[in-house]
Amino acid sequence: MNATFPSLRRSIAAMFVLCLGTFSIFTSSAHAEDEVGVTSSNVNTKSNIGQPSATNTTRDANGNIVQYGSDAITYQSPSKVTGKTAAELQAIGRALYMENCASCHGLKADGVLAKGNPEAYPSLLGLGPAVIDFWISSGRMPAADPTVIQAARKPSRLSRAQSLAISAWVSSLGDGYPYIPKVNSKDASLSSGLSLFALNCAACHTITGGGDALALGTYAPSLQNSAITATQIAVAIRSGPGNMPNFGSSLTDQQVADIVKYVKSDIQNPNNIGGAGLGGLGPVAEGFVALALGIGILALAAFWVGDRQ
Ligand code: HEC
Ligand code: HEC
Repeated sequence: MNATFPSLRRSIAAMFVLCLGTFSIFTSSAHAEDEVGVTSSNVNTKSNIGQPSATNTTRDANGNIVQYGSDAITYQSPSKVTGKTAAELQAIGRALYMENCASCHGLKADGVLAKGNPEAYPSLLGLGPAVIDFWISSGRMPAADPTVIQAARKPSRLSRAQSLAISAWVSSLGDGYPYIPKVNSKDASLSSGLSLFALNCAACHTITGGGDALALGTYAPSLQNSAITATQIAVAIRSGPGNMPNFGSSLTDQQVADIVKYVKSDIQNPNNIGGAGLGGLGPVAEGFVALALGIGILALAAFWVGDRQ
């Protein structure tokens, strides 16, 4: 046998192992890259928790709140969002409410008992215009089947303008917060959004946002759905629909904006900077595939190098 062949074979193998090593480090660090700098952007920005305060609120000539909030999120009244006066909106909203909602929630939106259960058709008073708008614009309301445990998201039967009109009328019966959040994603931090999502949301929605079953026939829906708007994500965090917790003062507006930016970009449009997407199974599964493949190929290379004639 040619004496130079084994050493040639060994150097090819060494180069191969080197390439493989570089590749696996690259794969496993692709996700870690998102995690650098976990601090919230704009830490000095005044932040609040979705409620108006003496210093963050603008009112119209009649003393009605037009908007409030911080640089991270501005909460606007339905009239501010639509450009219609409150009186105009409420007139349209009242008629739409009577047609689409009153049969279940009552003529005064104060809820209807069903078989003695006050939760069956809940009161809508004091919920805040953003909450009413969330349930209509996400197609949950008007309920297709009021007996199901959890109303499903579907294309909305009413237009956004109609939804905002109904929320204006219902809010005129009993004011509540939040108003409609307008999220400033431009100045929000993706890396902070990722870590806050992992900490606060992944337990139910999973780390990839794919959604999961919860107890008693309820489920955390998939967030990998670009129909879910930035406003809806912010309202969900601020109000806690159904079995989702209301995060209240534990998350500032800046943190909510960071999470919204992360869901709108990485969860709804995963760009898979780490190479093959593997169906977006998430860092653990991807790391596992890299490991299994890497060890397998390394073992083969070792056999090949160690092979004696
Ligand atoms: C067929 C009956 C029905 C109709 C019509 C209906 N709802 Fe509901 N609504 C329900 C039921 C039942 C629930 C509780 C279901 C749940 O939590 O998933 C509910 C829940 C809600 C909630 C959440 C309340 C809370 O405390 O979290 C809002 C807001 C709401 N409805 C608004 C509306 C609006 C606005 C309309 C009209 C556009 C409407 N609904 C029409 C049956 C109905
Ligand atoms: C305890 C479990 C739980 C946690 C934690 C949780 N959610 Fe949810 N989430 C739910 C459930 C349940 C629903 C559906 C509510 C319903 O439709 O009645 C939901 C609904 C949503 C929706 C509405 C989606 C749609 O289809 O319209 C968004 C957006 C959302 N969650 C985002 C978040 C974010 C962001 C966090 C973290 C800040 C979070 N959730 C934390 C359980 C959870």
